[in-house]
Amino acid sequence: MSSTSSTTSNSQSSQDLSFERIMADAVSRRRNFAIISHPDAGKTTLTEKLLLYGGAIQQAGAVKARGEQRKVTSDWMEIEKQRGISITSTVLQFEYEDIFINLLDTPGHQDFSEDTYRTLAAADNAVMLEDAAKGLEPQTRKLFDVCRMRNIPIFTFINKMDRPGQEPLTLLDEIESELGLSTWAVNWPIGSGELFRGVIDRRTRKVVLFERAERGKQSIEKHLDIEDPQLKEIVEKELLDKALEELDLLEEAGAKMDINLVHSGNLTPVFFGSAMTNFGVRPFLDTFLEMAQKPVARSTNQGPISPLCSDFSGFVFKLQANMDPRHRDRVAFVRICSGRFEKDMSVRHARTGKSIRLSRPQKIFGQDRSVVDNAYPGDVIGLNNPGMFSIGDTLYTGSKVEYEGIPCFSPEIFSWLRNPNPSAFKNFRKGVNELREEGAVQILYDTDQSKRDPILAAVGQLQLEVVQHRLEAEYGVETRLEPLGFQVARWVDGGWPSLENVGRIFNCKIVQDAWQRPVLLFKNDWNLSQLGEEHPDLILRTVAPVVSGVEPISL
Ligand code: G4P
Repeated sequence: MSSTSSTTSNSQSSQDLSFERIMADAVSRRRNFAIISHPDAGKTTLTEKLLLYGGAIQQAGAVKARGEQRKVTSDWMEIEKQRGISITSTVLQFEYEDIFINLLDTPGHQDFSEDTYRTLAAADNAVMLEDAAKGLEPQTRKLFDVCRMRNIPIFTFINKMDRPGQEPLTLLDEIESELGLSTWAVNWPIGSGELFRGVIDRRTRKVVLFERAERGKQSIEKHLDIEDPQLKEIVEKELLDKALEELDLLEEAGAKMDINLVHSGNLTPVFFGSAMTNFGVRPFLDTFLEMAQKPVARSTNQGPISPLCSDFSGFVFKLQANMDPRHRDRVAFVRICSGRFEKDMSVRHARTGKSIRLSRPQKIFGQDRSVVDNAYPGDVIGLNNPGMFSIGDTLYTGSKVEYEGIPCFSPEIFSWLRNPNPSAFKNFRKGVNELREEGAVQILYDTDQSKRDPILAAVGQLQLEVVQHRLEAEYGVETRLEPLGFQVARWVDGGWPSLENVGRIFNCKIVQDAWQRPVLLFKNDWNLSQLGEEHPDLILRTVAPVVSGVEPISL
């Protein structure tokens, strides 16, 4: 070997080494999570407080103010403005104590939970936010099921402790018995509501005192040792004794802390606090960052791919059109899973095999955008999407890989979408196909080919209204919705052959999805269970598996 080539190979290997170090450092400094909650539990408030710590916003109220701004700049979001709700969701990236945090924001309204399901596919951790008075609520349960499917680590924040709530032990018990998730309280409340005095940090045995502030003001957190004589002067004896007794009970009979169980999604660390008064938010953030799962290997058709792999890979988990109507843009949100993303890099699009140069990657913070030069596993970038990306698509360099994709979740409301104006059919077709690709709604088709109109299938009525509104505003077509009286949809294990085996089925309508798989629609759960009794061998699914390598049918 000549001296030149050995110098070259030495410098190559030191470059490799430094790249490895850069990657290892970047991955260890990334945390990525989504918040799951029922509307009104305090997600917006908690998000805002977290962003304040990250310095990403300067004042409380800014998240809502951004919302207002968004409502003004985005015309199809007119519905948001009219109804005062949040439909859109974005990614909020901020830095705190040297850690890059990607908070995958999800829409506030439950009719848009499909968007939340998809966002969870890109999340490494979830924060389950509960209202202390209400405990587990329907939307939280639904979203928890999605986390469970993917074994996402869950961190629980029990909010609104400044108001009268349920007994803390009852709240933990509910999580354990109803969700089958063990709990480990990181802190324990002393009193609640009017008598809420603070929390005991379980690891340091320090008491963090809660001081009631005026509405809208931050509470001041004072820390005292549990043995500190001052404590007795501030906190009523019976409240402190009760909290300590309960804590003893947890030490004896409760689950033990095991970070591996947290990371496998079987044990949830629980925090008590009050987002509005900012009580317990910073300790929550600190402990969360310490315990949360860093970007880990993700499953592909080639086996798990480590985030430290030098080849770039990532997948599209969300598409959003017209975030800025002045540019009529479509943005594809990509979760980076391995390697380093570099501006202007060329990647392969796994579904089509095409090579694509990623020239204008963006970091999107609410409505603000900036160009990204580099991004690492755990980060999310926005790519301009002139119609080439679909949800679940993989982008990669090096050898071909495909991520698992994102399944379809069972819709609950169905409606024919009629186009009363045949001359507008071209636009109607374009609109329906594009909105399906974007994941704004699922489209089902009658098995009778002569009935060409699509069936919109959604989680909530508002989702249908947004589709109708967007068809009119963006594609210039007025449409009519004609509800079908069904409420339950199920996919069939084994597809058409399984259905043929059972013969005629009553009290249900059989339609097909965009991958031509049979979907059974029922009027109610009773009809569904009746079918189960009559044909116990027919296995029905609430989630449709991902189809890879097959193009969906379009209108
Ligand atoms: P969401 O995004 O989950 O739907 O909930 P959001 O943060 O909008 O909070 C819902 C309501 O609960 C808000 O009151 C908010 O101020 C209140 N809230 C949030 N966290 C706490 C808390 O720790 N303690 C108490 N007491 N209230 C809390 P609102 O009256 O609907 O709105 P606003 O007038 O306060 O903005």
